[in-house]
Amino acid sequence: MTKKITIAIDGFSSTGKSTIAKQLAKQLGYIYVDTGAMYRAVTLYAMQHDYINEVSFNKESLINDLNNISLSFKFNSDLGFAEMFLNNINVEKEIRTIEVSKLVSQVSTVSEVRKKLVSEQQEMGKNKGIVMDGRDIGTVVFPDAELKLFMTASADKRAKRRYKELIDRGDKVNYEEILHNVQERDRIDSTRKDSPLIVANDAVEFDNSDMGLKEQFERILSLVDDKL
Ligand code: DC
Repeated sequence: MTKKITIAIDGFSSTGKSTIAKQLAKQLGYIYVDTGAMYRAVTLYAMQHDYINEVSFNKESLINDLNNISLSFKFNSDLGFAEMFLNNINVEKEIRTIEVSKLVSQVSTVSEVRKKLVSEQQEMGKNKGIVMDGRDIGTVVFPDAELKLFMTASADKRAKRRYKELIDRGDKVNYEEILHNVQERDRIDSTRKDSPLIVANDAVEFDNSDMGLKEQFERILSLVDDKL
């Protein structure tokens, strides 16, 4: 049997982590887990229950309700990746809106939320053969991962990518709003007390501001080959 490893991909928002992670998982026959989708689904739940909006956040109520939040991924063979389900409802589209993006970093600062999601993520990866992307995968979720990647790119490049994605799917957004959201999330994600976004000591860093997807993927595949 071939050896299976754990691949942790962390980095700033809209650095193409999920594109690379999906492609890697497909090539290696590994499971892919988008942990940002889990934080987004908890945020959507908090919005639906009026625990959070743009002016207030009732953390206590969300914490008391965490046991009623069930998250699962179900593979969609037409799309080629697993979609996010919140209490058995497909929320893949709702969790990608700008409204969720604006609130998700605040929800992600709550230690009780992180504790719940980290333990679910560790369970999903216990048999290895997994590519997981997020902010704390190489530092907290799988500190022993065989391969850790850290992706970065300029805020402007990332905002342009996110803007194009949202416009392509028909959302009405403006570029300034997206750029502001990207910068604000960088700030909250990097400065929060619990599991801030930092580069793990043993992570390989990629700045893909000017690197094409193909070149990046080839470099990463050769890193995977070394580990296998
Ligand atoms: O990867 P993404 O942009 O969909 O993630 C959304 C937010 O979720 C991100 O701004 C911070 C949070 N997050 C986190 O705190 N830890 C993770 N492992 C993944 C995401």
